[in-house]
Amino acid sequence: MDIKALVADCAAKVEARLDALLPGEDVAPTTLHKAMRYSLFAGGKRIRPLLCLQAAKACGGSEEAALNAACALEVLHTYTLIHDDLPCMDNDDLRRGRPTNHKVFGEGIAVLAGDALLTEAFAILARVPGNERYDVGDYVAELAYRTGSLNLVGGQVLDLEGEGRRLSLDELRAIHKGKTAALLMASVRLGGMSAGCTAEQLEALTDYGHDLGLAFQIIDDILDVISTPEVMGKSIGKDAREQKATYPALMGLEAARAEARALTASARAALEVFSAKRREPLLAISDYLLRRDY
Ligand code: IPE
Ligand code: IPE
Ligand code: MG
Ligand code: MG
Ligand code: MG
Repeated sequence: MDIKALVADCAAKVEARLDALLPGEDVAPTTLHKAMRYSLFAGGKRIRPLLCLQAAKACGGSEEAALNAACALEVLHTYTLIHDDLPCMDNDDLRRGRPTNHKVFGEGIAVLAGDALLTEAFAILARVPGNERYDVGDYVAELAYRTGSLNLVGGQVLDLEGEGRRLSLDELRAIHKGKTAALLMASVRLGGMSAGCTAEQLEALTDYGHDLGLAFQIIDDILDVISTPEVMGKSIGKDAREQKATYPALMGLEAARAEARALTASARAALEVFSAKRREPLLAISDYLLRRDY
């Protein structure tokens, strides 16, 4: 399986659709639409859309039926990055290889660009066709639950409150589950739902997204220690400076790597309900994310 080609193909499809869905830079208020597009089209890895489309295919669905869900996930994810970088949050200057949104547009516009992307995500999601098992209400409830106060936003709160404190492994896992794994779970679940997946398939995707999401954040934390801003397109060494609770800080780099490997293995095991052919892309993605160096 050529995973690089799969990633590139998915990113191209999602970017073309996003460009068609988002108001143009010349639409008033132009500053806002410029700011939204500035962060959205800065070249992210597009992992959440990739997961969404491949989960849909694993369940026998089409990429076309899942494409708006994939776009909604990337739009929402981009809002979380803009807000995560604000001075009152992680206070970062670099994102996706560019100065952060607030550095270019100012804090007020950056907050509002995030707000508008969050709102737009639900408008886009509402255009995903329903099927015999799921309707638009189910999609909206899913994304709202995974990204609201009980999950993503709640995880960001725990992340802020964890700064400077030595947390237990359970507390750290709860942060990672909320701030990162929840959106990866929504990504595969929405892909499956758009394909009219069975309850058994949805449960398998949920377990896969959970373990993959935890591994993804551990790798992000490791790369914050060992990588460079040139490769990552974002600042490095910030977690230590801000005294963030991370796996490398809690257990060291080697144990953190072992944990990411174990979580990836259990994510892969969750896919056994799918045929070998159907699960191949999701398996390849898990491997790609474990080995990534950016
Ligand atoms: C960054 O996500 C935020 C985390 C949850 C670690 P990504 O690593 O997917 O960032 P982009 O979308 O490629 O910029
Ligand atoms: C970000 O986690 C999670 C969300 C944006 C929800 P991090 O703060 O570790 O992400 P980076 O390292 O800034 O991308
Ligand atoms: Mg953060
Ligand atoms: Mg951050
Ligand atoms: Mg990080």
